[in-house]
Amino acid sequence: MKIAVLPGDGIGPEIVAQAVKVLKALSSDGMKIEMEEAPIGGAGYDVAGDPLPAATLKLAQDADAVLLGAVGGWKYDTLPRPMRPEQGLLRIRQGLNLFANLRPALLYPELADASTLKPEVVSGLDIMIVRELTGDIYFGQPRGIHINADGEREGFNTMRYSESEIRRIAHVAFGIAGKRNRRVCSVDKANVLETTELWRQIVIEVAKGYPDIELSHMYVDNAAMQLVRAPKQFDVIVTGNIFGDILSDEASMLTGSIGMLPSASLDSNNKGMYEPSHGSAPDIAGKNIANPLATILSVAMMMRYTFNDEATAQRIERAVKKVLANGSRTADIWTEGTKKVSCSEMGDAVVAAL
Ligand code: IPM
Ligand code: MG
Repeated sequence: MKIAVLPGDGIGPEIVAQAVKVLKALSSDGMKIEMEEAPIGGAGYDVAGDPLPAATLKLAQDADAVLLGAVGGWKYDTLPRPMRPEQGLLRIRQGLNLFANLRPALLYPELADASTLKPEVVSGLDIMIVRELTGDIYFGQPRGIHINADGEREGFNTMRYSESEIRRIAHVAFGIAGKRNRRVCSVDKANVLETTELWRQIVIEVAKGYPDIELSHMYVDNAAMQLVRAPKQFDVIVTGNIFGDILSDEASMLTGSIGMLPSASLDSNNKGMYEPSHGSAPDIAGKNIANPLATILSVAMMMRYTFNDEATAQRIERAVKKVLANGSRTADIWTEGTKKVSCSEMGDAVVAAL
C-alpha cells in the first residue's frame, strides 16, 4: 500500500501524526505499508510558492491512497485567491478526479451527551452523506468579479452539472445504500434552480436500476431543518458540492463534535483521499489538544474503500470505540466524569487498543 501523507496546516500535522502511528502499528503487524510525506495548502505555499506543489500532486497521483490533514491558516487569508491553501485542496480533488465524497455522521453511544441535541434525537444516528466533489458552483465557469453594465462591481459564479456527473454520483449513492438501510434521499433545490431540476431527473432515472432502494427527494432548506429536527429519518443523503459542504458540517455537530468525523473522497476506481471532515483549526494549532479520531477513522475508511480490507477497517473502529468506552476524551468531547487526554495521548491510546 503506497500512501501519500499530506499533513497540511494548523492542527493537520498533529492529527496526521496520530494516524501515522496507527498505520505504523498495522505495518509492524505485517501489513505492507509505504508512506511518503509532502506539503499542501499553506505549507505548500511556504516551501514552493504553490498550495499544491507539482511534486505533491505527482506523489498523490503515484500513490494508492492519500492521507490528508487539513489546510488553511490566517496568515494565508490575504493572499491572492490562486495562492490560498483552499485552492490546494480543490485542485488535488480535481487533479485526482475525486468526485465522490463520503461523509458519515455516526454517533458513538458514549458521546450522546456531547451533542447539543437531546440524546433521544441523536442516539443511534448513522447517516452517510454522499457529496459530489468536483462539479457545481465550486468549479463552474464563468466566474469572477467584473464591472457590470451599470458600472458597479458584480460577483458571479455558475452552478452547473452535466448528466454524466450527476449519474456517476447517483450510482455511488445507490451502491452505498445497498450495503446499508437501502434508502437514498436526494437533496436539491429543484423548485428554483434548473441545475438541480436536472439533478432530480437524472437521480430518478438512475434509481430505476436499483429497485430495492427507496428514493426520496428533499429541498435543501427543508433538509437543513430536518437534520436537526429528526436526523434519524435519513440513511444516505446524496447531493451536490455546495449543498453537501453545508449539510455535512451541520450533520457533523449532531454527533457531538466535528472532531469525530472522517471522510473519503473517491475516484471511479476507488482510489481515494482520506481526511477528517473538519478544518485546520488555527486557534488550537500546536497545542496538542486537537481530536485525532476523525483522522484515525479516515484511515479505517481508507482500508475499507481503497484497500478493500473490511477486517482492518473494523479493527481500527473497534479500537476507537474501546478508547471511548474507557473514558478517554480530547477537550472537544470531554464531559464531566471522563478523562481529558491530549491529541498524542489519544493516538497512543488507540494504538494500544489496536
Ligand atoms: C470541506 C471544506 C472545503 C470545501 C474548503 C476548505 C475548500 O469546507 O472540505 O468541506 O468547501 O469543500
Ligand atoms: Mg466544508
